[in-house]
Parts: sequence; C-alpha cells; structure tokens
Amino acid sequence: MRGFVVYESLFGNTAQIAQAVVDGLKDHLDVEQHSVAEGPLSGGADLLVIGGPTHAFSLSRATTRQDAVNQGANADPTIGLREWLEELPGGNDTPFAAFDTRVDMVRRLPGSAAKAAAKVARKRGYQLVTRPESFYVQDVPGPLLDGEVQRAEVWGAQLAQALVGELRDWG
Ligand SMILES: Cc1cc2nc3c(=O)[nH]c(=O)nc-3n(C[C@H](O)[C@H](O)[C@H](O)COP(=O)(O)O)c2cc1C
Repeated sequence: MRGFVVYESLFGNTAQIAQAVVDGLKDHLDVEQHSVAEGPLSGGADLLVIGGPTHAFSLSRATTRQDAVNQGANADPTIGLREWLEELPGGNDTPFAAFDTRVDMVRRLPGSAAKAAAKVARKRGYQLVTRPESFYVQDVPGPLLDGEVQRAEVWGAQLAQALVGELRDWG
C-alpha cells in the first residue's frame, strides 16, 4: 500500500509534523513526504494525508504567505495547499486525512486549514477517514508545543492501523 503526506509549510512547523506523520505511517505502508512546491503527485495512492498552516482561519492564500515571508519565513510564497488542491485529480473514494498547525493561544477561535482542506478533498471524491486534526505552535513562527511531534506520530500510526485493518476486513 502506498501513501503520500502532502504538506505546505512557511516556517517549518508543519513540515516537522508531516515528517512525524510519515514516521507513524511508515511501519504500515510505503509512504512518501511531498511538499506542495514539488507539484502534483506521480501515480495513485491508497492513502492521501494533507496538511498546512492555518492562515486567517483557513488555508493560506498568496497574500497571507507573503505576510509570513515578511515576518521572517524562509519559503516560496507562490504555491500553497489551497492551490495544490485546485489541481488535485478526482479521488474515486481514495481514503484521506487532513491536519493543520495553529497557534495555541487562539485555539478556541473557529477556522482551521485542515477543515477547509478536508472540504475541498471531499468535493474531489476523496473519502475522509478520520476527523481533521490540529497541532499547536506557541506563536506564528513556532515552535511547536512540547509533545506535538510525538502526538503527530501516534496520529499517523493510528491512521495506518485503522486503514490497514479496514482493508483486511474487506478481504
Ligand atoms: C498571515 C498569517 C495568518 C495566520 N492566521 C492564523 C489563524 O487564523 N489562526 C491560527 O491559529 N494561526 C494563524 N497563524 C499562525 C500559523 O498557523 C502558524 O504560523 C503556522 O502554524 C506555522 O506553520 P509553518 O511553520 O508550517 O508555516 C497565522 C500566520 C500567518 C503568517
């Protein structure tokens, strides 16, 4: 089974979470980490995991990414998860999961990139297999809160176990 963890990251926090999700998945399936800057995926997937930073209560836009660069992010602001999803081919019920990173201090505020991404992928025919999940940073540039990398690895492992179990049940 083949999986992809596709991510956007301006300051590097979401990239760290993406790596942890890969670490959680890799005992169970053949998994690759893929930045949105690398363009479309080559070949099909049995599992798609998508993740990005929450910007202005949703997926980032060119303007918010530029804002991040202005605040010191060392990244190319031209493409984000929103634009990558616009080019995503139809999913034909391929299982998927979504995560984001957000600021801990405002965790009660609504709006998350993971929820927005999940909405788009579902419309494209992908099947959401677990609730969109958020991982928390201390402030806009990070760092991640203590324990978030480990939590992401567990989230990835549970995702893989559920998926592998489900496929086994289908025989
Ligand atoms: C322009 C901008 C808008 C943001 N808006 C939000 C927001 O609405 N809610 C939130 O929790 N965090 C917000 N953040 C903080 C980001 O979520 C944080 O920078 C991100 O998790 C860091 O991930 P990265 O290192 O992968 O870029 C914003 C950051 C920027 C630069």
